[in-house]
Amino acid sequence: MRKLKTSELLPGMILAEDIYTYNDKRILTKGIELTDNLITRLEFYSILSVRVEDEMASSKSIDDEISYFEKLRSSRNYIEFKVHFDHSVDSLRLKLEKLAEGNVDLDVSTLLDSTLSLIGTAKGSYNIFDMLHNMRQYDDSTYAHSLNVALVCHVLAKWLNMSEADVNLATMCGLLHDVGKIKIPDEIIKKPAQLTADEFALIKTHPLEGYRMLETQDINEHVPKAALMHHERCDGSGYPHALTGDKIDKFAKIVAIADVYEAMTAPRIYRGPMCPFHVIEIFEDEGLQKYEPAYILTFLQNIVNTHLRTRVKLSNGETGEVVYINQNALSRPVVKVGETFHDLAKEHDLSIEAIL
Ligand SMILES: [Fe+2]
Ligand SMILES: [Fe+2]
Repeated sequence: MRKLKTSELLPGMILAEDIYTYNDKRILTKGIELTDNLITRLEFYSILSVRVEDEMASSKSIDDEISYFEKLRSSRNYIEFKVHFDHSVDSLRLKLEKLAEGNVDLDVSTLLDSTLSLIGTAKGSYNIFDMLHNMRQYDDSTYAHSLNVALVCHVLAKWLNMSEADVNLATMCGLLHDVGKIKIPDEIIKKPAQLTADEFALIKTHPLEGYRMLETQDINEHVPKAALMHHERCDGSGYPHALTGDKIDKFAKIVAIADVYEAMTAPRIYRGPMCPFHVIEIFEDEGLQKYEPAYILTFLQNIVNTHLRTRVKLSNGETGEVVYINQNALSRPVVKVGETFHDLAKEHDLSIEAIL
């Protein structure tokens, strides 16, 4: 038996004690297997820590009935990654808060080293992107978001065959891209309802705020530029300066893709992470002219390729295997169901609903 913070709990863990609220109402019973909903309930009642059994429930029953993401969340690889991730978020929070107070020199090499070692723990059978999606269910702070974006930047820069120095620089740009948000009240950043025009105008100051915080630091010039330009879009539809393609910093373009991918895949309380094929479809529909074409295509192709030979569920309820990726319709591969091949690029009424 061990005691864990509620933020460290994972679906599949077995509760080792009854849980009561402060006014003695029992909300969970000993022996129950935790699910996303039950963990959310503990958070709702502000239960800070609970005792769980050493064994995971899911380890004895992993089969096709358990979704891909549930399997991922009970894997050792993910659990180790999550512990390391939470630790990195805490240290990033401390460093950035100090930076926001002013007059501190940012320790760039320590920040980078701890992020690179986190990436080291992510090596395993699961796709780092899928691990990141799941992480977001537990922490939606700017810091967790920044760390996620940094990891996506790292992977994307590698896919783009950048030098090691540039891969590290892209990672740094991701880590610090939203630092200006520290200057904006948390109630606005985390507001669950739609923002008013004034609130939105305030949020839009974060690129410039971030630039100002970073430009005085002894840091590569691309880092403050990425903070300033990560909401610019190649077609001129972005902010704060509505710059077009050739005026936008190369590293800001990498951060822009990582940032929007992160935002789109953010899981909600009422549903798990979005199916990667759905995310890619949205990018294909509305994103291609907004991002650097070579970067966005490399990004999407590589994500899709990690799902070749994956089992998927189709919108008609059938299950099959992704056997061929259509380079012109990345979200619509060929799926083999039994002896039948469904080319989703041609069969428009069918789509991939989930990865199994
Ligand atoms: Fe931002
Ligand atoms: Fe961001």
